[in-house]
Amino acid sequence: MSGLFITLEGPEGAGKSTNREYLAERLREQGIEVLLTREPGGTPLAERIRELLLAPSAEQMAADTELLLVFAARAQHLAQVIVPALGRGTVVLCDRFTDATYAYQGGGRGLSTARIAQLESFVQGELRPDLTLVFDLPVEVGLSRAAARGRLDRFEQEGQNFFEAVRQTYLQRAAAAPARYRVLDAAQSLAGVQQSIDRLLPEILERCRG
Ligand SMILES: Nc1ncnc2c1ncn2[C@@H]1O[C@H](COP(=O)(O)OP(=O)(O)O)[C@@H](O)[C@H]1O
Ligand SMILES: [Mg+2]
Repeated sequence: MSGLFITLEGPEGAGKSTNREYLAERLREQGIEVLLTREPGGTPLAERIRELLLAPSAEQMAADTELLLVFAARAQHLAQVIVPALGRGTVVLCDRFTDATYAYQGGGRGLSTARIAQLESFVQGELRPDLTLVFDLPVEVGLSRAAARGRLDRFEQEGQNFFEAVRQTYLQRAAAAPARYRVLDAAQSLAGVQQSIDRLLPEILERCRG
């Protein structure tokens, strides 16, 4: 038996966490076993790496350091949580995964796609998400939702250009592999976003049972 690996992507404030809960409830009411997790993080050790990544700090973090920390956390998360859960047949709903690395460290920081792809193969082997929901919205909307949440983390302190590159990278990746990605308009009302998820539900349920 093998589960289904669904990732939720998009910038801060796009509604990933809110809608991950919503999707989990819709699947659970169909009797499907769901595991909710997130990146960077998802295990105690990986959450400590997350703190290193998010904490604003006087010492500038080199882009390569950031990239390696992201993948170090991911290796731990895969080994401890994701791979075992998929092996049990669980549906894993993960808030951010390697698409975020392409978007933030690739698009945002300007690291080469080839280098990210090398680490992706090194850490994940052949494992890729089965389905990726991209929560897309204009940069200003996401930033204002994130700002309303309080103190900004090291990424949220980046500027408009950084987040524009993040957004464009997500959209390009989705356009290049439409079988794996579904792009949702995350700027509409929460009820509207949830209706979009409802429309995807038959397809998701079919994949869960497939
Ligand atoms: N479609 C929406 N319209 C308005 N506000 C929203 C919408 N989706 C989420 N929010 C609000 O925006 C904030 C960020 O949502 P969240 O789910 O935490 O985003 P993310 O996990 O992508 O950063 C929360 O306060 C949430 O209630
Ligand atoms: Mg969130």
